[in-house]
Amino acid sequence: MRKTELITALDLELDKAEEIVKKLSKDVKYYKIGPVLFMRHGVKAIDMVKKHGGEVFLDLKLHDIPNTVKEAIENANKLGIYSISMHILGGPTMIKAGINAAKKLKIWGVTILTSIDLIEFHRIGFRYSLEKQVQHLAKLANETQVDGVIASPRELYYLRQTLGEKIRIITPSIRMEASGKDPWDDQKRFLTPKEAKERGADFIVVGRPITQSKNPLKAAQEILKEIE
Ligand code: C5P
Repeated sequence: MRKTELITALDLELDKAEEIVKKLSKDVKYYKIGPVLFMRHGVKAIDMVKKHGGEVFLDLKLHDIPNTVKEAIENANKLGIYSISMHILGGPTMIKAGINAAKKLKIWGVTILTSIDLIEFHRIGFRYSLEKQVQHLAKLANETQVDGVIASPRELYYLRQTLGEKIRIITPSIRMEASGKDPWDDQKRFLTPKEAKERGADFIVVGRPITQSKNPLKAAQEILKEIE
């Protein structure tokens, strides 16, 4: 059976993020730092996670000319992070420039943001169906040998079918079956950790169900139990 790992998304202020990492550090290895935390606290946020023994997925979704991405990845190598994301729409030359510059750093590709609905998708000018476009980009990413593809849970099953077993798939939009409709919750089409594992996720990204919980450690442990 595939091993599925938990990544806790730290969409918080630095002090709150550190409280969470301290509580979780014995059980959870991976933490996602996105632009919100990074723009405010930069490398300090990364160092905080590393200080507590965690690994960082830096979710900055790079999308730029190949040379800029190459130089950004050269600098990212020095941060000692585990993985970083980039848009597959940046094209194969950009992705390869990133991959060639990466040392131990894993490169994860984003297909189409799940916030983009069909109307917007067509306004941008895509002509395939959304599903076909996602599949096309994932295949392209696979050909360029990215280490992983970030996908919504509803894409998991067919992406795993299309891409085979080797490529890593990372998915957010995860909720426990019993989760009530919390006021902060904007995830509509989620899967449970167990379902994501069964459909072939290597990593699940979970933020608020852990960080907003009264007992973040217990919430994380319940998730870990489902993906054991
Ligand atoms: O709090 P929640 O569990 O919804 O957090 C999920 C994390 O994954 C957030 O950092 C969010 O920005 C990110 N994400 C997402 N849905 C996507 C892509 C990324 O929720 N389609």
